[in-house]
Amino acid sequence: MTLPLTEETQERFSEAFIGQPEITVFAPGRVNLIGEHTDYNEGYVLPMAVDKGVAISGRKRSDSKIILYSSDFHQKDEFHLDAIRHDISRPWANYFKGVAYLLRKNGITLGGCEAVIKGDLPQGGGLSSSAALEVVSAVFLEKLFGVNLEDLDLVRLAQQAENEFVGVQCGIMDQFASYMGGKDHALFLDCRSLEHDWVPLGQDYKVVVFNTGVKRELASSDYNERRHQCEEGVRQLMKVLPSIRSLRDVSLRDFEKYQGQLDKVVLKRCRHVITENQRVLDTVEALKNKNWLRIKVLFRESHESLRDDYEVSCHELDTLVDLAQEHPLQVGSRMTGAGFGGCTIHLIPKDEQVIGNFVSFVADGYHKRLGKTPDHYVFSPSTGAKFLNDRAAKR
Ligand code: GLA
Repeated sequence: MTLPLTEETQERFSEAFIGQPEITVFAPGRVNLIGEHTDYNEGYVLPMAVDKGVAISGRKRSDSKIILYSSDFHQKDEFHLDAIRHDISRPWANYFKGVAYLLRKNGITLGGCEAVIKGDLPQGGGLSSSAALEVVSAVFLEKLFGVNLEDLDLVRLAQQAENEFVGVQCGIMDQFASYMGGKDHALFLDCRSLEHDWVPLGQDYKVVVFNTGVKRELASSDYNERRHQCEEGVRQLMKVLPSIRSLRDVSLRDFEKYQGQLDKVVLKRCRHVITENQRVLDTVEALKNKNWLRIKVLFRESHESLRDDYEVSCHELDTLVDLAQEHPLQVGSRMTGAGFGGCTIHLIPKDEQVIGNFVSFVADGYHKRLGKTPDHYVFSPSTGAKFLNDRAAKR
């Protein structure tokens, strides 16, 4: 029998360091239902936390050393609090280091500690293992050293760790979902004001995820390039719409009127973001009204827009979405996350037989077309990061 992740990090701690950990924290990954590449344009997103993620168990030390052991990579890393440096030979440790570095930069006093980290999300698979690692590190250091951070400050700090220390210009969605996710609810977030609301989802449907196994390197230039193209779009549109600050401020009507101002590629990027924002608002409305037919259309349009206008899909993602759309009981299929590989999501009625039938339908079709069987996961929306302070606690 496999142990729950949090029990496993507790066990591994005793092996790696001898004795017991003081605290254990778990932070989940996420899937995004809709609202892709809108977060860094100050738009809307609708992610949910999943029940896989990253756990950490650890305790304080009496000196200023931090010793981390990754149970996934079987690697140790050791550094002093006042000499925190990015290290390409230990990519997994950079997320923890980024968080510790930023806490200190914000004037928060930390001490030395030792900890074991382990995850059960596919890494680089588009389910936000990095955000989970940042959030779990932030909650761990917060609890261990009795720091009291406001929720939104903790989320922003985790995002900053990725932007400033790891070097990926991601938006705030993943860290927000990992920390604020709610059981059986999707999380509707306005990425400008950070106002948010939980929208019921888990009653009737589950989320099936297929992993193409195609690895995307988020730090690679593609993601940052899309972000720059959006900023360029804002610059070009400001000539006729001087009050806009981001693509969030451009209505569909204004976009249609002024799109002639834009270069060809920038126009496509902007069209995706502006139409996607509207699709998020429409999906929230449709979820509240249980209008599944509408959701099916919105998800399909989102995927097509990411494929044709934002150009972040790939053959494997398109194949999975095309196959899923042939199944009569799915009510929404699209790629999820940054793209360039990674995963697709599918809303499927909460019925084991239907889910089993859907999974074999898509997996068999995929195998016939591409000669491979994709991994899959079945998720219900889960709660955000959890802090467990004793060995009996389970997630
Ligand atoms: C990655 C980033 C997010 C978001 C998505 C695309 O997951 O970390 O901030 O931009 O891509 O929607």
